[in-house]
Amino acid sequence: MREDKKMSIVTERTGSPKAKPKAEDYGFGRFFSDHMFTADCSSDLGWHSPRIVPYRPLELDPGAAVLHYGQTIFEGLKAFHGVDGKIRLFRPEMNWKRLEASADRLCMRAPDLDLFMEGVRHLIRTDRDWVPTQDGTALYLRPTLIGTESFLGVRPADEYLFYVIASPVGSYYGDGLASVKIWIEREYSRAAPGGIGAAKTGGNYAASLKASVAAKKRGYAQVLWTDAGRHEFVEEVGTMNVFFVIGDAVVTPALSGTILPGVMRDSTIGLLRSWDVKVEERPVALRDVLEAHGRGELKEVFGTGTAAQISPVNELGADDGSYKIGDGGVGPLSSRLYTHFMDLNYGRIEDRMGWLSEVR
Ligand code: COI
Repeated sequence: MREDKKMSIVTERTGSPKAKPKAEDYGFGRFFSDHMFTADCSSDLGWHSPRIVPYRPLELDPGAAVLHYGQTIFEGLKAFHGVDGKIRLFRPEMNWKRLEASADRLCMRAPDLDLFMEGVRHLIRTDRDWVPTQDGTALYLRPTLIGTESFLGVRPADEYLFYVIASPVGSYYGDGLASVKIWIEREYSRAAPGGIGAAKTGGNYAASLKASVAAKKRGYAQVLWTDAGRHEFVEEVGTMNVFFVIGDAVVTPALSGTILPGVMRDSTIGLLRSWDVKVEERPVALRDVLEAHGRGELKEVFGTGTAAQISPVNELGADDGSYKIGDGGVGPLSSRLYTHFMDLNYGRIEDRMGWLSEVR
């Protein structure tokens, strides 16, 4: 056992390191590194006992709040192995801010910025040899907060576990950037006004599964979520934020409370504006998008998220027909954004926005 001076993180190293998978087998989230970070919170002690331990199953009381009333939130961020050998995280403080906001919405106690950052960084330092080096790969970090108190009354838990696990991942689509077909969803809803749509919590993903399975059966990769009221306004695409290139402007739904405030969403808007591209954050009526398609002005549609980074859409499908986007391939703006983010992440270009932070 070893203690980290700054935060007194106890490290218990595994005695049996795992064989590393081959990069071509990574996929997304199939393998986990050798260690995990954990810290506990109780009402009398606050946050305590931060430690690195071998990756292993959690011990949870069957009455734990997370198992019954869904007090669970998570984050996703990537550590990249740069061409200069440095390991960099992309805007990790934004993930903490969002975790804090999600915790507030679900009445949970969030770790402070220091505990979050040191948990993530210390796990990366411990499992440094798990950060893959191939282009398009990364070590995906999954900070997770769950209510652990065993109590069946419905109220916020008094005890929490914060843990971080890490998974070497490939590009979300086999060959880096691929465009997908998306079904316009008008039956199921992901989130309702006043609900938990802006929080990164398991319930939103559970709510999305039925529609996503149905879309796949129809031959579509994912769904375009529309508002829960009348299904007239676009909200998200699959598990990502959505952007439309209409004429000379890029349009994305404004954060309304039902939409997840994505780190890649914010970064894409920032990057586009730095390129003097007009970006409009506003309610986006589905009818306006389809009318723009009719006029030949809908040039590109793409999703943004940490997992896929940029995910171009080549077709929108509906009961009354399908709408092909562009020439069915990857549009020029999607391609420029994807290349720019890749070059930034791997340290091939200057980080003018100050988005990357090195893990030493
Ligand atoms: C992302 O696009 O980064 C996501 O949040 C999807 C993740 C749940 C796999």
